[in-house]
Amino acid sequence: MEKSSGKKKIAIFISGRGSNLKSLIKYSNTKKSIIKIVLVISNNFSAKGLDYAKKSKIKNIYIKYSNKKNFENRSLKLLKQNNVDLICLAGFMKILSGNFIKKFYKPILNIHPSLLPKYKGLNTHKRAIKNKEKFSGATVHIVNKKLDAGKIILQKRVKILKSDCEKSLQKKVLKIEHKIYSKAIEKLFTNY
Ligand code: GRF
Repeated sequence: MEKSSGKKKIAIFISGRGSNLKSLIKYSNTKKSIIKIVLVISNNFSAKGLDYAKKSKIKNIYIKYSNKKNFENRSLKLLKQNNVDLICLAGFMKILSGNFIKKFYKPILNIHPSLLPKYKGLNTHKRAIKNKEKFSGATVHIVNKKLDAGKIILQKRVKILKSDCEKSLQKKVLKIEHKIYSKAIEKLFTNY
């Protein structure tokens, strides 16, 4: 019997460490999970995240990024072949083109380590500390053509202590990321 029938088919795009991928795999293996991860795509051959996918026997592929168009076309083909309902970007360090977003035609989520709309882009923790922010956090949002600017699905904050440095804040925020990504996916498919 197909145990995963009725579950949403997810593809996860990564570039490196893959701790968010790992937490999504963990969630997908729970009873209450509404997802099945059918594909992991990495633009980086040595991404540690690929090992998690292999260990969990999830179809995974490295696609060279030297040519963006080629990367996107090959990805789109695989997404179609695997009937993917949703793409989750998890530490994917490339920006998808408007053409790709349009052609995929289904939702794409991203997780970002700040309380968007604050601190789009890189070095979020460094900038939040420098600006003496009282809170930081993580945001899951829809991907559109503009960087880190799509509709916010879920956000959770964490206090920045005086004793926090970039590294400690990063650790705290990452913990939150691992909690909210699966919740955001559930929210997307129930309320969106
Ligand atoms: C996370 O902090 C995520 O918010 C950002 O890149 C990092 C990726 O971490 N987009 P990991 O590869 O999931 O461990």
